[in-house]
Amino acid sequence: MQSKALPGFRDLYPADTALLQKIFDVWRAVSARYGFEEYGGPPLEPLELYTAKSGEEIVGQLYHFEDKGGRAVALRPEMTPTLARMVAAKASDFKKPIRWYTIPQLFRYERQQRGRLREHFQFNLDLIGEPGPLADAEVIAAAIDVMRGLGFGPESVRVRMSDRRVIRALLMGAGVEEEQLGAAYAAVDKIERDSRDALTDRLKGAGIERPIADRVLDLAEIRGLESVLGALDEVTDGELIGDGLTECHGALANMGLVEFVDVDLSIVRGLDYYTGIVFELFDANRSVRAICGGGRYDDLLRALGGIDLPAVGFGMGDVVITELLRSRSGAPSTPSRLDVYLVAVTSSDVPEVLRLSHALRDIGIRVEYALKQQAVAKQLKIASVRGSGRAILIGPDERESGEVVVRNMDTGTEEQVPITALTEDLAWLGGRETP
Ligand code: HAM
Repeated sequence: MQSKALPGFRDLYPADTALLQKIFDVWRAVSARYGFEEYGGPPLEPLELYTAKSGEEIVGQLYHFEDKGGRAVALRPEMTPTLARMVAAKASDFKKPIRWYTIPQLFRYERQQRGRLREHFQFNLDLIGEPGPLADAEVIAAAIDVMRGLGFGPESVRVRMSDRRVIRALLMGAGVEEEQLGAAYAAVDKIERDSRDALTDRLKGAGIERPIADRVLDLAEIRGLESVLGALDEVTDGELIGDGLTECHGALANMGLVEFVDVDLSIVRGLDYYTGIVFELFDANRSVRAICGGGRYDDLLRALGGIDLPAVGFGMGDVVITELLRSRSGAPSTPSRLDVYLVAVTSSDVPEVLRLSHALRDIGIRVEYALKQQAVAKQLKIASVRGSGRAILIGPDERESGEVVVRNMDTGTEEQVPITALTEDLAWLGGRETP
């Protein structure tokens, strides 16, 4: 018998799901503020959905197998191909731009490291049908607002933003051939992780010799919009090619969010389908891997569903956010999950406890009581462990008089309340309104 979860998989205890729920609540609240609707898709997909367009990195991490019907299938490692297929299949049914979000659990057989597991929940927010830079800015703003909603400011979270159209133009201007672009992107992507010598060797392996290789690595080190525009001045149509990045940056400035944003040409993203703006969010110390990654993928809907629709979006995982929240505030407190604990003084009080608990639950009050006869002190102990704000003691005297004792578990004070009034007037709960 295997007694532990598989490596990279989590047993989520209630304290873990409580924190997760907090994150999901922010994801949903931001989606709602931006007018996005929730959708869903299958956790198991045809293998070829990913092998077609996602790129080697993710395909090498797939959990895949043959099902009993002989189909090659994979647990979904990302949501974007499913979304592209779903939208392409019914494109004419939806008013553009389509604003959709979802929170799937995803599976990747990755080498485990801090912030990376073999399953995670990933908030996906995508905007389909709008090719312009305001759509890019819209999804980046939503990603920033999630982090703001979780209490992170520009001193602790940074957006690193680039544009594949810009990188492509600069690389080709530097002498890289069309068929060498993949290798050049890979080197640019690794500029902060690997040494220049190692990258130069790898470029050489792809047929990119010095001095072109040096120029490629110099490009990867360009930071800041002004420097990017300066570099673009040197290439044909450079000014035009930089427009998307400039306008997206300008829109984020108008929203008051640009202080979160760094233009950074080393961001290219591992997935093959991106065609325009690309971005990642990191914690400012870069102590963990990316919090979020996304960009524009204008060709994916055509490739997977034959429909020409531009799209932009991002994926944001729960794992890094959880780590950041935990390291910021220590162990998160477990919220109270009870409003009132009903204490039966004797076993003949149980029927009244059952009647009253059900009447209170019916009006939305969170109630628990002992499932077997126990001493009053023991019942009060459980009430306090549960974080119940109130306890109601019901004994033979209370049933006789029709008045119960409501104890405030925080202060220890008690008040007499008529049983019939408990569901009428919630003053005894500390002024709480019924939901
Ligand atoms: P991705 O960069 O592969 O993009 O993943 C997005 C985010 O998901 C990462 O930044 C990270 O927070 C989280 N993530 C990815 N893999 C793991 C893992 N093994 N463990 C924990 N967290 C992980 C995509 O998946 C794109 N489909 C996103 C997208 C949506 N692009 C456009 N729309």
